[in-house]
Amino acid sequence: MVASAETTICDESSGYIDPEWTVVLPRRKQRICQTKVSRLEQEVKQQPWTPSDHEINKERESKLMQKIEASLKKLEGSKFYDLFLNQIQDPDIFNCFSRVLGSESIMDMVVYGVGSIETYEAPRLQLSLAILMKRKFEWVGNIEVFDPILSSTETRVLESLGCSVLSLNEEGRRQALKPTLFFMPHCEAVLYHNLLEVNWNVDMLKNLVLFGNSFEAYKHHTDVINDYVASPYTKRILAAQSFTQEFRVKTGPDDLYRAFHESSWHFFSPNHEQGVPIVQFND
Ligand SMILES: C[S@@+](CC[C@H](N)C(=O)[O-])C[C@H]1O[C@@H](n2cnc3c(N)ncnc32)[C@H](O)[C@@H]1O
Repeated sequence: MVASAETTICDESSGYIDPEWTVVLPRRKQRICQTKVSRLEQEVKQQPWTPSDHEINKERESKLMQKIEASLKKLEGSKFYDLFLNQIQDPDIFNCFSRVLGSESIMDMVVYGVGSIETYEAPRLQLSLAILMKRKFEWVGNIEVFDPILSSTETRVLESLGCSVLSLNEEGRRQALKPTLFFMPHCEAVLYHNLLEVNWNVDMLKNLVLFGNSFEAYKHHTDVINDYVASPYTKRILAAQSFTQEFRVKTGPDDLYRAFHESSWHFFSPNHEQGVPIVQFND
């Protein structure tokens, strides 16, 4: 349950960020980026999606499956996983999950932005955590996964692991009409912004659990780091803090740190009478 505020920065050439590193661009470049994302914000539509390749390669699939099985095993045997389970079962967090579930017995999981599970270890560990949660907790329902960079091989392996891969790029704009766990490890700020924006009312925010970059870390980077210019998308993240309960995921001593650093569980309890604050995107 983790992620880094600095990963909000976009790479203008590819639109992709190397998941192994966090990068802070100089101010001028960030401003260019902001103009670009503002324009994108208006143009973005949810688009049908299929992997860009159509390759069916059984050998690649079997190698990837072996890598994921190794990753599941590594994670399950780690100190991090022990801490993770203890933390979720601690009454502070467990009560928040129960509050979101209300009278429902199942909470489906939506995994956005997991990255390339074939190329990098961090995305494999993140996916493994989602799968282990489903295996461990009966209240975790179906897992839906989407990342526009998934290959045909990755998609087929995810499906054989019991996950559904979305055929629509929702741009993070899934309405939480029922209790839903959004598992969004180390995503860019725009995805958190989109998710919050489309759910920006008291009733839907209460249905939402978010595992992702620490909102407190976004605030820290905005307040403390002099040369940091916040992405316009962080405005909504900062505005949400007044009604967010955040629990930082404990990463522990092992080498899983990179996959889960600066990640938190977030629960939202806006006040019924006050409602939610208005966030102006362009001021
Ligand atoms: C900073 S990377 C993080 C990857 C991985 N979770 C990690 O920690 O290494 C952000 C990911 O979000 C994905 N992404 C971009 N747009 C997306 C969208 N509309 N829906 C879901 N994922 C998206 C990117 O392709 C990329 O893999």
